[in-house]
Amino acid sequence: MSAHDRWAGTDGRLRRQLRQPAHPWAFAPGQGMIQPHDHVHMDRALMLAERGRGQTSPNPMVGAVVVSADGRLIGSGYHEHAGGPHAEIHALRMAPDARGATLYCTLEPCCHTGRTGPCVDRIEAAGIARVVAAVEDPNPLVAGAGFTHLRAHGIEVDVGLRRKVAMVQNRAFFTFVRTSRPFVILKAAMSSDGYIAQGPGVRTALSSAASLRHAQGVRAEIDAIGVGSGTVLVDDPLLTAREVYRHRPLARVVFDRRLRTPATARLFSTIAHGPVIIFTARETADACPGRVAALESVGASVEPCEDLPSAFRRLGERGITSLLLEGGAALHQAAWDADLVDYVQVYVAPRVIGQSGVPFLPDRSLSLVALADGRTTVCGADVLMEGYVHRVD
Ligand SMILES: NC(=O)c1ccc[n+]([C@@H]2O[C@H](COP(=O)([O-])OP(=O)(O)OC[C@H]3O[C@@H](n4cnc5c(N)ncnc54)[C@H](OP(=O)(O)O)[C@@H]3O)[C@@H](O)[C@H]2O)c1
Repeated sequence: MSAHDRWAGTDGRLRRQLRQPAHPWAFAPGQGMIQPHDHVHMDRALMLAERGRGQTSPNPMVGAVVVSADGRLIGSGYHEHAGGPHAEIHALRMAPDARGATLYCTLEPCCHTGRTGPCVDRIEAAGIARVVAAVEDPNPLVAGAGFTHLRAHGIEVDVGLRRKVAMVQNRAFFTFVRTSRPFVILKAAMSSDGYIAQGPGVRTALSSAASLRHAQGVRAEIDAIGVGSGTVLVDDPLLTAREVYRHRPLARVVFDRRLRTPATARLFSTIAHGPVIIFTARETADACPGRVAALESVGASVEPCEDLPSAFRRLGERGITSLLLEGGAALHQAAWDADLVDYVQVYVAPRVIGQSGVPFLPDRSLSLVALADGRTTVCGADVLMEGYVHRVD
């Protein structure tokens, strides 16, 4: 992936949306007048936020820009990693005299003390006259209180500029805060007649080199990858992010109610890349302490769990905000049936398998052309079809 693609998001979606004109109805009536230069500065803040992609979880990506009363860019910054200074603080540090300036930020400034102090106090102390924010922070600790605080201290506040772009940029964060579970991407490689493998138990390579590279780019950004025990038994995957930059751990999750995952699986040779969590049925964990011990001895964390929704909530409790569900068919179908899929990414290969194959979503209830905001991308010989099941905006 080029540096340009990196700031634009893996799929370039942000870059295209930035070219679209802003919608005037994105603003609540009665708020300040938005000028053309406001769009330019907010777009800069959105691009800065992109620099944090894949680095900030469980926090959102945020960018901020400070512009003086006479229109000079005097500060800019972005949230680099969880626990580090917020974007507004980076931007204000660059602007020692920000009196009367406007602060553009892609998310509502915080008003609570988390790992860092409240940004609203720093904004007020810096003498900022106006704040333009893309969207309200859904975190219940903020949720509009940041704007209320700023207005109460005489600062003009405009909210909603590039709202949709900002929400899509932080789709994992918005889903995580609203639902307490990760944003779930259902991902598969499929033949043109709708099969994901040649037959049960048959390891099948379907994707072009370009698709594999694209998929690694997604792995670089995601918090966790999930597979069913059937895929571990047939494919014995490593589930690591390869040939992409990723410095933080990648959690791997196996859904395995009968604990069939062997302790010799290749996955356990990659524990240095991140934790391996195995969700199993409580009865299995109680009945098979030896199997649990064998898996724990190779580094797995075995967690008894009732069902898929509770497993996904557990991942949320661990601070996992995004999950790439790579298969196979039974796990995809179960997540689909439980309405736990937010986004679908299917790499369609120019190959016919025939009816002996393992079908993608066995009950055929998902139509790729019906996905919201759907798009297609050529990946070598394959076509990537993707879109939303649950939109965030
Ligand atoms: N082309 C692709 O993109 C792709 C990707 C991955 C896999 N595959 C292929 O898909 C095939 C494997 O698919 P698969 O359907 O056999 O296996 P799978 O979906 O990987 O795993 C199925 C197993 O998951 C366990 N499981 C845990 N929780 C579940 C739940 N809530 N609902 C359903 N199952 C749950 C079940 O075993 P328990 O009952 O013991 O829990 C079930 O037998 C392989 O051929 C593999 O190569 C293709």
